[in-house]
Amino acid sequence: VPVWLIVPAAGQGRRMSADRPKQYLPLAGETILACTLARLHAALPEAKLVLCLDDDDAWFAPGQVPFTRWQRVAGGAERMDSVLNALRAMPANEHDVVLVHDVARPCVTPQDVRALASAAANNADGALLAMPVADTMKRATSDGSCARTEPREGLWHALTPQGFPYGRLRRALEKAQASGARVTDEASAVEALGGRPRLVSGRRDNLKVTHPDDLALATAILAAQDDRL
Ligand code: CTP
Ligand code: MG
Repeated sequence: VPVWLIVPAAGQGRRMSADRPKQYLPLAGETILACTLARLHAALPEAKLVLCLDDDDAWFAPGQVPFTRWQRVAGGAERMDSVLNALRAMPANEHDVVLVHDVARPCVTPQDVRALASAAANNADGALLAMPVADTMKRATSDGSCARTEPREGLWHALTPQGFPYGRLRRALEKAQASGARVTDEASAVEALGGRPRLVSGRRDNLKVTHPDDLALATAILAAQDDRL
């Protein structure tokens, strides 16, 4: 079945407080956006890419896109709106597989992307990369004390990519948007319709570059991975 990649890249990167949106900051001699797209392309060179970009984006250059088949769509107010713009614009069929990956995760490995793509193609409710929670989890009171300890058994961090059949994902996100639900990943929209996306254990170094000190971490992760990829 055809595989599509949606990369939401229309965020402003406010928590990064840089002079530009974080996806255009330098990393390993490229931009974060170029690093992320290179990893995805290495995994799925035949996939069709849909890139969500802000209309006012002054930093994007098409030379950063390694895919032969790709299109640009406008970003929306929130991540979910950007992804929905992509789903509405792309000429996909009901059962095509759609993978969504944050532009801010440049350390994802091609192996993890392919594992996720294969799980998504084999599960009607889709799949997501995730990792088991390692730390002890505390529930806070409103004044910042520990109210209790939450059992961490069965708790996972949700990562990307997340992948679903096109029709299932589109209906889930259309419904979430119409109801005004705040949805921060695709899986939660599918769960809200009773779906049970498959958890695919992913590497722990699939960092989302969010805060300024994440740049040094991402640089070290890419250098360490280069030895082994
Ligand atoms: N994103 C998007 N459209 C939006 C908001 C976010 O496409 N309206 C994308 C970002 O570009 C990023 C992903 O969604 O790839 C995850 O969002 P996040 O890490 O929060 O990035 P930003 O929103 O850019 O950062 P911040 O929240 O710090 O401003
Ligand atoms: Mg954000």
